[in-house]
Amino acid sequence: MTHDLLGRHRAVLPDWLALYYEDPLELTHGEGRYVWDAAGRRYLDFFGGILTTMTAHALPEVAKAVAGQAGRLLHSSTLYLNRPMVDLAERIAQLSGIPDARVFFTTSGTEANDTALLLATAYRRSDTVLAMRNSYHGRSFGAIGITGNRGWSPTSLSPLRTLYVHGGVRTRGPYAHLDDREFTAACVADLKDLLGHTRPPAALIAEPVQGVGGFTSPPDGLYAAFRDVLHERGILWISDEVQTGWGRTGDHFWGWQAHGRSGPPDIVTFAKGIGNGMSIGGVIARAEIMNCLDANSISTFGGTQVTMAAGLANLTHLLEHDLQGNARRVGGLLIERLRAVAARSPHVREVRGRGLMIGIELTRPGTDEADPRAASAALEEARAAGLLIGKGGGHDTSVLRIAPPLSLTVAEAEEGAAILDRVLSSL
Ligand SMILES: Cc1ncc(COP(=O)(O)O)c(C=O)c1O
Repeated sequence: MTHDLLGRHRAVLPDWLALYYEDPLELTHGEGRYVWDAAGRRYLDFFGGILTTMTAHALPEVAKAVAGQAGRLLHSSTLYLNRPMVDLAERIAQLSGIPDARVFFTTSGTEANDTALLLATAYRRSDTVLAMRNSYHGRSFGAIGITGNRGWSPTSLSPLRTLYVHGGVRTRGPYAHLDDREFTAACVADLKDLLGHTRPPAALIAEPVQGVGGFTSPPDGLYAAFRDVLHERGILWISDEVQTGWGRTGDHFWGWQAHGRSGPPDIVTFAKGIGNGMSIGGVIARAEIMNCLDANSISTFGGTQVTMAAGLANLTHLLEHDLQGNARRVGGLLIERLRAVAARSPHVREVRGRGLMIGIELTRPGTDEADPRAASAALEEARAAGLLIGKGGGHDTSVLRIAPPLSLTVAEAEEGAAILDRVLSSL
């Protein structure tokens, strides 16, 4: 049955729509942190559909909110007042820490980032954007134009002039040998130098922890140091919180807060986890920036009643159950366990991350060379043992990505760590 589906998939969908596993998996249902395939096999889910199932699979509150709203009204467009959209916008504006915040809902992270770019370039009347090396911000023509990761750059044509900045990857690149303070100083000096050679940019866009790039991040405080430089020159700071938002990193509700001594970014984008699988993305910016457009703009499917009802139920559950605190506690245990496991494996270069956003970078034993084949083998082995994980990375795809729903229990963390122990030993 699944083979038949695979043949049909390949015949009708694009070749570049990659599937995991030599024998791809069809998932049919889930509950909590587990999912089941079409053959009835159960898996512990450490990837949550690319960090999208944020709280839990089949969370009753979300299911009830969706069913209830679906039975009344799915969509009306933003031409009419929409109570769930206003409710969720108010909650998000308040949580953002951005003064006089306005929220615009989209259907995806890509569309959210495109909107942020539209706002920043219109506000600053500049077509130039600073982005980080090894970044990923989405698949549209605009978002590809700020992607610093070759594996996700199908074209070099772009509506923007993009300059790539150092700093998103701590342990590779020309500054890797420096200590944290020196690393930050070198990146800031590079940024200042770059700004001396270019027309004034509109904004810097950055993921606080690079997602697709393999869960890499700069030392805490780097973006605050950047912000000081940008602020002096009126350049906006856009934080792409599509993967890092809502407490996933444990220590903070937003990823930027690891850098936040000088306050929130000018623009925050979000998507993925807030809808727990429903298509919600969005942009938060202070009113002055959000309102700078002098023509109409609309996202027909942005903020539909049914997605907003899901988002509200999901966010309420997250806050009432302190899932950020859970991510910090259980994620802290998990990363310690994985570091102990990794210390015994010659294939592991680094275990990094925070909260429930953990990367295991694999290299060829005795070298610093990325090992994408080992990463693929690890994914297959984990699946065979009943664990779903992801992969990513800029230098070939050699980083295992671990990002379970934020409600992960200690027992489930132990179960997953034990499987990863066996997987790494078997490489
Ligand atoms: C940091 C980041 N920004 C933006 C996007 C794009 O989001 P979407 O796939 O919902 O368009 C992604 C998707 O992986 C992402 O990881």
